[in-house]
Amino acid sequence: MVKQLLFATNNSHKLREVQEIIGTSFILLSLKDVSIEGDIPETSDTLEGNARQKARHIYEKTGTDCFADDTGLFIDALDGRPGVYSARYAGEGCSFEDNIRKVLAEMMDAENRNASFRCMVCLILAGKEHLFEGRIDGIILKEKHGTEGFGYDPVFVPNGQSQTFSEMPPYLKNGLSHRGRAILKMMRFLVQ
Ligand code: IMP
Repeated sequence: MVKQLLFATNNSHKLREVQEIIGTSFILLSLKDVSIEGDIPETSDTLEGNARQKARHIYEKTGTDCFADDTGLFIDALDGRPGVYSARYAGEGCSFEDNIRKVLAEMMDAENRNASFRCMVCLILAGKEHLFEGRIDGIILKEKHGTEGFGYDPVFVPNGQSQTFSEMPPYLKNGLSHRGRAILKMMRFLVQ
């Protein structure tokens, strides 16, 4: 029988990505599927703290095994910014486009373009937390390329690749990405 697993997100891009990474062994449920709407509290200043907070919040509300993730883009030339504040870097209610514009403006004169995406996943099984981490290093381009994906994908090229995450077919991004790596670790743990 195919098992279900609750993913503490209402981000449809992420849901699709993670379902593609997981394949058919688990069917993911989103917060919408369990009638939870609105933002989940995310007040920590670390990825691990936010992933744990989100998963714990949903576990306490639903009593169901679930997982949450938190991701940040850490840019060397910006002393690690936007980091844990990647979602709202350009301000409350900003778009992905606003965030990219702000990052590119701040990096206008930067020669060092190195950056990394880092992702923490917190899985709660029968009340117990399990953490999984994924990271991908790369560079930030000076302008956007591609139309796939979301967030900072159009300006991030993973090391060893010639395309941004936005130019790649989803399977290629998922095979390389911070989230793909963290979720794969979680899957190995779940099937063991
Ligand atoms: P979250 O914690 O996973 O919601 O990610 C915070 C922010 O990081 C998002 O709003 C995006 O701007 C960015 N982000 C997360 N994952 C990705 C990704 O796979 N590609 C590009 N940007 C991402």
